[in-house]
Amino acid sequence: MDRREFLLKSGLATGVGIVGACRTEARRAERAPAGATSGQGREYRVAVAPAEVDLGAGPRFKILGYNGAVPGPEIRVREGETVRVMVENQLDEGTTIHWHGVPVPNRMDGVPDVTQAPIAPASAFAYEFVARPAGTYLYHSHAGYQLDQGLHGALVIEPRQFTGHDREFVLALEDWATFDGGGPAAARAGRVASSMMGGMMRGMMQGGGDDDGNPLRQPRYDVYAINGQAGSAAPPLKVRQGDKVRLRLLNASSATVFLVRLAGHTLTVTHADGRPVKPVIVDVLQIGMGERYDAELIANNPGIWPLLAKPVDSDRRAEPLRTLRYDGIASRTPSSAGGKELRTLRYDDLVALPDDAVPSVRGRVDRTVRLMLSGGMMGSSLWTINGRRYPNTESVQIAHGECARLEYSNMSMMPHPMHLHGHFFEVDVPGRPRKDTVLVPAHMGRVAVELVADNPGAWFHHCHNLYHQMAGMASVVRVG
Ligand code: C2O
Ligand code: CU
Repeated sequence: MDRREFLLKSGLATGVGIVGACRTEARRAERAPAGATSGQGREYRVAVAPAEVDLGAGPRFKILGYNGAVPGPEIRVREGETVRVMVENQLDEGTTIHWHGVPVPNRMDGVPDVTQAPIAPASAFAYEFVARPAGTYLYHSHAGYQLDQGLHGALVIEPRQFTGHDREFVLALEDWATFDGGGPAAARAGRVASSMMGGMMRGMMQGGGDDDGNPLRQPRYDVYAINGQAGSAAPPLKVRQGDKVRLRLLNASSATVFLVRLAGHTLTVTHADGRPVKPVIVDVLQIGMGERYDAELIANNPGIWPLLAKPVDSDRRAEPLRTLRYDGIASRTPSSAGGKELRTLRYDDLVALPDDAVPSVRGRVDRTVRLMLSGGMMGSSLWTINGRRYPNTESVQIAHGECARLEYSNMSMMPHPMHLHGHFFEVDVPGRPRKDTVLVPAHMGRVAVELVADNPGAWFHHCHNLYHQMAGMASVVRVG
């Protein structure tokens, strides 16, 4: 019985009392098994409430937490199990939880006013769904700016068969605005719509335009972190020489596309958004908000190595957000990275492996929808699909079982990770990788995706930059 097995089996004994304890013991929640077994299912209780965190960089500041912490409890289940999550709302505003990437029944999808009424203050809601297919997912609030305030966590659906890793690390990337103690000034401090925008234009915008203090503008993030811990404060990822290590990397940030690499090692990407791909070896992963990659590495280069991350298209230097530390290595200085050229994963490198979990399009397209993404001109914080802002965007209607092709073109200066709820799609590149979130590059970038609409309901579809979503870059895809 490995450690995880043990936690699964002992879950019943330890799970139920956790909620109260975690409110004060934020750190412990990261490791505590919050799920209890019951028959064929796993049960979790998640309290949503204001909390305070110390990321280990910058000041202590206010967030919203699941069970008093960020991230929320890791939800880890086996494929085919029923997951039941009882959400208790202790905020003074409504909330929901969305199971990002999991094709749940529509009424469990957690989008306020699209799939359910928000969970009111002082009330509770039970989400329940069958966990499938296996993969790396995240869960997060879909109400207002709550994702950016800390309401997210990892959701791992393990395959029925053990896949033979010695270690596994689940790493959720985050962006934080910690100044003003996380208070209103942090939320309002967004003055930079785009890193492409020079100082002059920024000056113009600050000169009293209607965007001054506009809450739809993303904050200027001052701290990047993984799993609620930044930089040197974070415990190292410990490995032994020869270990086969799996990283489950997910971008839980609200507005930062990250470039990530592990010094001293290549990464063998095995899954994109939870779906299996032909293993491909790269140095750097570009991960948009809402995207996930599983990558393997063999611990064959003893030392102490930084896991480096930086926002794409920015002058900010890469920061070490974690350290990979080999057993028995005494040195405290990260070993140097060497000077070779780095290879960054592109969608063109991804080749889908056979995947029973997702029906395939096989060249049959019944309906093509063109989606032009624009906005952000002259510092405006209005973001549109085909010139309109949600809720006035046109909804897309697809009959149950039809195949649809969504063609994105990006007329703006920022990349947009577009996410469709309730379905996986095939990205129209030669290897047809399946994903649920696709990064549409800035400056006339074009991407098409195709899907079999097999999950009936009204599904939210939006840019996973939270500030773009809230400023209008969203629509509804109706299946059925
Ligand atoms: Cu993670 Cu509607 O999104
Ligand atoms: Cu966007």
